[in-house]
Amino acid sequence: MTAQKKPSTVTQALPYKRVLLKMSGEVLMGNQQFGIDPAVVARVAKDVKEALAMGVEVCIVVGAGNIFRGVSGASQGMDRTTADYMGMLGICINALALQNALEKLDVPTRVQSAIHMNAICEPYIRRKAMRHMEKGRVVIFAAGTGNPYFTTDTTGALRASEMDCDAIFKGTKVDGVYTADPFKDPTATRFDRISYMDVLTKDLKVMDATAISLARENNVPIVIFNIREEGNFARVLKGESNCTIVSNA
Ligand code: GTP
Repeated sequence: MTAQKKPSTVTQALPYKRVLLKMSGEVLMGNQQFGIDPAVVARVAKDVKEALAMGVEVCIVVGAGNIFRGVSGASQGMDRTTADYMGMLGICINALALQNALEKLDVPTRVQSAIHMNAICEPYIRRKAMRHMEKGRVVIFAAGTGNPYFTTDTTGALRASEMDCDAIFKGTKVDGVYTADPFKDPTATRFDRISYMDVLTKDLKVMDATAISLARENNVPIVIFNIREEGNFARVLKGESNCTIVSNA
């Protein structure tokens, strides 16, 4: 009798061990004009769970454009600093919604806020966040950097650098960076790879210049992908879906 061959347990090594997922608040509102669509939050949570199941450590930075946009408040005559702090509170609302959706799927999650609000979440402590992720928990960073004048993209680049992430995954409504707006220009083509410098000099609006510079200085690649497609986060992590990688290469 010949020995039964054991099924191979060797899986393809993923290029990413730890990533930061950055998404705008608008993703969470789905087709609504503002606020949170619970079905969309649940779908995003499912996508994150799928990534964790592949052995990837995930932390999240979310925006607040679905609740309050600091910049638009300022443009309507509000103090920029006050408007930005209101935006930071909006981020906390989104962070709690994401935590709730993840925990409904039995994904252990910790919210850490840059502005202390101990009754509702932990304060941001880098080493504790690292330990949470090593234990398989998703860490959601709330309240931006805690400072006005900084975007959530910059928060993403900052936290990804602090957490030694292998990449920032920026979830958008398109599958990468294009030569022109693909919704307006049918001849626009997508870059597979592009350098930080080209993004800055061509003003390609991937992220604001502060965020790009921070990622560049700390050599954290930025992966632009479509987060609106169910399951796409895992597919991009595995290299099976379109995206654009912004790096020094
Ligand atoms: P370990 O150190 O691995 O045990 O991590 P842990 O997060 O499970 O332990 P900890 O005792 O720090 O936290 C237990 C629970 O309390 C978790 O749900 C934390 O998110 C929460 N928690 C911890 N610190 C704070 C805080 O300052 N404010 C709030 N609101 N919750 C907190």
